[in-house]
Amino acid sequence: MKNPGIVVNKYQSERIVRKLLSMDIIRKDLKIRQDGDLVMIPLKQHTEFQGYRTMELEFESRAIQKPPAETIRKISGARSGKPVIPDRWIRLGDALIIKDSRKPSRSVLQSIAQVLGVNSIYIDRGRIQGNIRRPEMEIVYGAPGTVIHQENGIRYSMDPSRVMFSPGNVNERILHGKMALDGATVLDMFAGIGYFSLPLAKYTHLSKIYAVEINPESYSFLKRNVEINRLQGRVMPILGDCRDVSPLMRFDYIVMGHFRSLESLSAALMRSRPGTVLNMHLLVPTHELAVYWQDIVVLARRLGYILDFIEQRKVKSYGPHLWHMSLDLAVSRCLWP
Ligand SMILES: C[S@@+](CC[C@H](N)C(=O)[O-])C[C@H]1O[C@@H](n2cnc3c(N)ncnc32)[C@H](O)[C@@H]1O
Repeated sequence: MKNPGIVVNKYQSERIVRKLLSMDIIRKDLKIRQDGDLVMIPLKQHTEFQGYRTMELEFESRAIQKPPAETIRKISGARSGKPVIPDRWIRLGDALIIKDSRKPSRSVLQSIAQVLGVNSIYIDRGRIQGNIRRPEMEIVYGAPGTVIHQENGIRYSMDPSRVMFSPGNVNERILHGKMALDGATVLDMFAGIGYFSLPLAKYTHLSKIYAVEINPESYSFLKRNVEINRLQGRVMPILGDCRDVSPLMRFDYIVMGHFRSLESLSAALMRSRPGTVLNMHLLVPTHELAVYWQDIVVLARRLGYILDFIEQRKVKSYGPHLWHMSLDLAVSRCLWP
């Protein structure tokens, strides 16, 4: 059917949909449609939004018109009032991760699987264990195992109960794919299953990326993901501790996607030259946001490297007054001869 809608770029669509939802002007009974890089969003009326003009576009109506929680309650036969029906979940391929710690009944789980079309359901116990960042998940429906999650045109094979995948980091993953890295040699020191290595290799014109991962399970998913995304020859997976096994070369760009990135700063600097950009992930309390990076600059200077601040980005809130930050620093000089 024809309805007023706007056409936006797929990379901006998530932000725009969120904004339009908060303004309550999206028609939720019609499906948002994607065609290549363009996303068509159905609106309640013709309106002007941030320079986007509405036009008459073709949309399909949604099969499920009620909010999923309502449909789940209805078909599970649960009476309103008591049943535990989660209202927050994350979908990874055909698995669903529920954030609510209370376990829903068998009939509610069955209804969730039916309404949302998933094969397995986990409860995220919220703890992420150790340096290898293994999530603590309880399987409550279906069988555990590997799923294929698609994001930004990349396929990530993973087992949600064994390796982490944070949907909240999606902007950082997309941003990496948009970097100007023509001909660059890149090092990903905490590659995981390829969160950053895959978008870097797929969407930039880098020459090669060395992807180091210490956890053998994540490493085998990383290798598989390189294959299923046909990035062999561009991504070189390496198993081991990045401080020991990263190639001793001078890289143009070094990604350090782990909150304990500081512990590997000297290993990264050893592999840098003037012009190298370091991307560090850190947990930072709100009151230190303006200054924390200066300590890193001082530490690097003691190690013989002059660093310049480029920019910092808030990836997501990590708790009260605590932020997951992504920090870009450039090596401007090495004091070693
Ligand atoms: C937090 S995960 C990556 C998360 C990712 N940046 C994201 O946005 O979702 C960090 C990865 O670093 C790996 N790791 C931890 N210490 C390491 C080390 N010393 N050398 C190489 N990999 C390491 C962990 O096993 C894990 O897979």
